[in-house]
Amino acid sequence: MTLSLGVIGLGRMAQVILHSLLEADQFKSDEVLGVVGRPGSIKRAAEYFSTDFSIVDAQDPMSDRVWDLPVKLLAVKPQQLSQIKENCTSSTNPEFAQKPLLISILAGVRLDRLQSLFPSHACVRAVPNTPALVSAGVTGLSWGDEVSVDQQRLVLELFRPISKVYELPEEQLDAFLALTSSGPAYLALVSEALADGAVAAGLPRYLANTLTHATIEGTVQLLKEKELHPGQLKDMVASPAGTTIRALRHLEKEGVRSALIEAVVLAATRSKELS
Ligand SMILES: NC(=O)c1ccc[n+]([C@@H]2O[C@H](COP(=O)([O-])OP(=O)(O)OC[C@H]3O[C@@H](n4cnc5c(N)ncnc54)[C@H](OP(=O)(O)O)[C@@H]3O)[C@@H](O)[C@H]2O)c1
Repeated sequence: MTLSLGVIGLGRMAQVILHSLLEADQFKSDEVLGVVGRPGSIKRAAEYFSTDFSIVDAQDPMSDRVWDLPVKLLAVKPQQLSQIKENCTSSTNPEFAQKPLLISILAGVRLDRLQSLFPSHACVRAVPNTPALVSAGVTGLSWGDEVSVDQQRLVLELFRPISKVYELPEEQLDAFLALTSSGPAYLALVSEALADGAVAAGLPRYLANTLTHATIEGTVQLLKEKELHPGQLKDMVASPAGTTIRALRHLEKEGVRSALIEAVVLAATRSKELS
């Protein structure tokens, strides 16, 4: 068995990334070593995958092998980071020109912190989002100083099957996260509220939900394909003294636009605080 990828933490996001890597044959299952926190989690993590690969818990002596591998995906909760640091057994090997790669998806843990916790590694921060579950995500990437061109290529190949990838300066990652990682929650809330409105106005629930999804998808497609500014589309729909302008007037009076702007700014501020 020649291991080459270590996945430290096999929660939802790591499962999605690893599943796509195995499906795309980017890594063979016998090249992967997964590590979870507790023995009881091994079975649950394994159930997600159609192929078998090695999964051990953090107390298993085999888990130390993860630190010898050239590529690691770090996907634990930020509060578990100090425990991971304690387990890290690798040290800088002067025989290798290139340091092994550590890809962290931990929200709010900055590159300088990663680099000081794992000095024997070249570190990269990745911010994926939940639509990656259906290969429709976006991922923001910020490179640490020591990541080589080949390693950058590898990371891009890891995230492209599940998401559109954006390379960004690290100071933009908080805003990226506030929009893209938290965004599905804002849009789910808006979607639910629109469907509730349709139910209140007389549609059955199933139809209200289906029509809400179709309207959101169609609107996004229209904006993209016709390259419209959102304001142009709004003006196309709102006819004089009609239904839409009456509804828009209410939304403006209630401060919906401002609430959404503030929501993104607050999430970005919180992300900065957490780091
Ligand atoms: N979910 C998202 O949408 C999303 C999006 C972007 C970024 N992220 C980031 O992804 C990271 C993981 O999030 P998640 O939602 O996937 O979390 P999660 O479901 O709680 O998964 C955490 C994983 O880490 C394992 N773990 C705990 N202690 C460990 C240790 N000492 N050694 C090895 N593994 C250990 C856990 O195993 P046990 O279950 O046995 O404890 C579990 O498999 C977070 O830092 C988050 O910021 C998540």
